Amino acid sequence: MQPPGPLTAALTLTLTLWAALGAAEPLRFFDCGSSVGNISIVDVSPCPSQPCVLHKGQTYKVNVTFTSKAASQTSKAVVHGVLAKLPIPFPIPNNDGCKSGIVCPIKKDQKYNYINALPVKSDYPSIKLLVQWELKDDAGQDFFCWKIPVRISD
Ligand SMILES: *[C@@H]1O[C@H](CO)[C@@H](O)[C@H](O)[C@H]1NC(C)=O
Ligand SMILES: *[C@@H]1O[C@H](CO)[C@@H](O)[C@H](O)[C@H]1NC(C)=O
Repeated sequence: MQPPGPLTAALTLTLTLWAALGAAEPLRFFDCGSSVGNISIVDVSPCPSQPCVLHKGQTYKVNVTFTSKAASQTSKAVVHGVLAKLPIPFPIPNNDGCKSGIVCPIKKDQKYNYINALPVKSDYPSIKLLVQWELKDDAGQDFFCWKIPVRISD
């Protein structure tokens, strides 16, 4: 095998760095009151740089790593788009947290990965807004509540 040329080497290095940075940089988020949980990672992908640009017609993967501080039989997700402080319900295909990567009942002091999808419909307006995502327990308290700024684009 020939040694790689300088161009190939540079390209490989760039791609490697890119992948490493992309994987290493966690999403910054605002905690909006996770009263019965503790968020460790919010991952929305693909989102190579923040604020996340959400393209119409695409579906984004959401993966939230959190620790529960309460037990619960159920868990229900509530998603809003917040525009000028006005929360507008944001429909997601499945709001049952127990069908989103979490095995219920939820136990106290356990780490969970909440996995869901955020479909961005093609008729959404091209605007900047906040996405607020909550996961509620039996009593309506938040295992997590996080907010990130996004931009909806064509
Ligand atoms: C949340 O977890 C982090 C470690 O992941 C810990 O440092 C922090 O104190 C915890 N916060 C609360 C409110 O439990
Ligand atoms: C969710 O994120 C956690 C922590 O980064 C990771 O270990 C896990 O594999 C991810 N799960 C999926 C389905 O992407």
